[in-house]
Amino acid sequence: MHPLRSLILAAAGNDAIRRLVATAPVSRDVVRRFVAGDRTADAIGVTRDLVASGRSVTLDHLGEDVTDAQQADLNVRAYLELLDALHAEGLSARAEVSVKLSAVGQKLDERVALANASRVCAAAEQCGTTVTLDMEDHTTTDSTLRVLAELRRTWPSTGAVLQSYLRRTLDDCVALADTRVRLVKGAYDEPESVAFRGHEVDLGYVRCVNALFAGDGYPMFATHDPRLVRIVAERARWYDRKPGTYEYQMLFGVRPDEQRRLAREGETVRVYVPYGSQWYGYLMRRLAERPANTTFFARALVSYS
Ligand code: FDA
Repeated sequence: MHPLRSLILAAAGNDAIRRLVATAPVSRDVVRRFVAGDRTADAIGVTRDLVASGRSVTLDHLGEDVTDAQQADLNVRAYLELLDALHAEGLSARAEVSVKLSAVGQKLDERVALANASRVCAAAEQCGTTVTLDMEDHTTTDSTLRVLAELRRTWPSTGAVLQSYLRRTLDDCVALADTRVRLVKGAYDEPESVAFRGHEVDLGYVRCVNALFAGDGYPMFATHDPRLVRIVAERARWYDRKPGTYEYQMLFGVRPDEQRRLAREGETVRVYVPYGSQWYGYLMRRLAERPANTTFFARALVSYS
């Protein structure tokens, strides 16, 4: 991992920095670029615009790393309200939800997370849409895949996320290749004992693209990397996959022109849209991905403090 990226992710755990960033007025502008807003209505508004422009959506209610049952329950309720609103607005055919198990109680107990995620999956099914379980740091991978397997007994279309930076992931891709899987590079600061570095992460991504296309599942390629987007297109032709039998995914606020270009070409493009007041951890991971964003943000913070 790039040293600046590690530094930003480490700073994300520092309380003094958290307070400074969360209260600085400049945060608002940077946040607005990557986060739809605080409220369900904000999420619905952004979803409506994206769908009108030919893109699909997956919505993430921000609020990871919950350590009490009440907050986990509030996060579940936020998802239920969102799903109802998507249904009422006629958006659920084009918009699903992404759930982090740590937001619904994974740190308390895996069974709590399973029960809470089941509530969200049941509501999503009623509203005519699906859930994808985001993947968090590597210490949670086995637990998340166990919960996923349980959820899929009742809701087989629940999406998995696999991270190409983990050394284990090619095996996971082969095992899950007949199912709905989002492939990402991975956003957490992982030790070298479990994670590849630099170019190896990209090589791992390409190997996983092949493994997923070789299966009968529905792969979802989440990357903004122009080279990987080209390779996915080439591999789709090689495996004779038609648009609609796989999809591209990108984050809200990142490479929107590329999102529109792919959609115009007839590809399914899903935009990951986070919303809610707990945006800090999410923003830090986005800044860590793009040192140019960070330099701008850090200068503004220094002048503010
Ligand atoms: P990379 O970081 O190498 O970026 C390639 C190029 O894309 C950059 O050179 C730049 O041009 C552009 N770019 C990338 N990020 C940018 C940014 N923040 N701002 C501006 N430009 C940027 N991770 C995880 O661990 N668990 C998960 O569940 C998910 N879920 C998820 C869903 C979706 C839809 C996406 C797109 C991503 C995730 N991720 C994730 C994040 C993922 O692991 C990864 O950190 C980011 O996608 C960045 O990696 P890229 O593949 O884009 O390549």
